[in-house]
Amino acid sequence: MKDIVIFYSNSEEIRRLSDLIGKICNIEVKEIEIINKDSKIKSLIKTILKKDNDNVELKNIIDLSNYQNVYIGCHIFSSKIPNAIKKYLSTVNIDNKTIIPYCTDSGDFGNYFEEIKKICNTSIVKKGYNFSFLSDKNDKEVEKLIKLKLLNL
Ligand SMILES: Cc1cc2nc3c(=O)[nH]c(=O)nc-3n(C[C@H](O)[C@H](O)[C@H](O)COP(=O)(O)O)c2cc1C
Repeated sequence: MKDIVIFYSNSEEIRRLSDLIGKICNIEVKEIEIINKDSKIKSLIKTILKKDNDNVELKNIIDLSNYQNVYIGCHIFSSKIPNAIKKYLSTVNIDNKTIIPYCTDSGDFGNYFEEIKKICNTSIVKKGYNFSFLSDKNDKEVEKLIKLKLLNL
């Protein structure tokens, strides 16, 4: 069984972070993609209105049958977990997997980790870590945080 990093992105920082986790752990990194993704401006307006895409449709279902440890991450907009992550975790079989959640945020990640725990109730969910203000940090600093806070190395 292998490990994998899976992320949903609306910001460049979550992509950079996910790639760095993949690089440090030497594991695959895959992105959850959705059909009809909002443009940046539409996404911004929706965030201000505290709305998300309720009928989100996934473009790809990343199968987890060959993986045991799943790092799963996203950005936090409006203090909420994106519906795309919820939909993915409710669609794919995550029974008995170990889920390690992470996110990027600016200091208010709402109940992201509790939500992940609730959705992944047939999995083992690790504590995870929220990476705040990543755009202020260079790759070396981010790598240090990943090792210390997410991987507990
Ligand atoms: C429209 C919008 C809404 C956001 N809402 C939140 C929020 O509610 N809580 C929070 O901590 N960060 C929020 N952020 C910050 C993002 O989570 C953060 O920018 C993103 O995860 C990328 O990380 P960075 O700030 O290090 O670039 C928001 C950002 C944008 C653009």
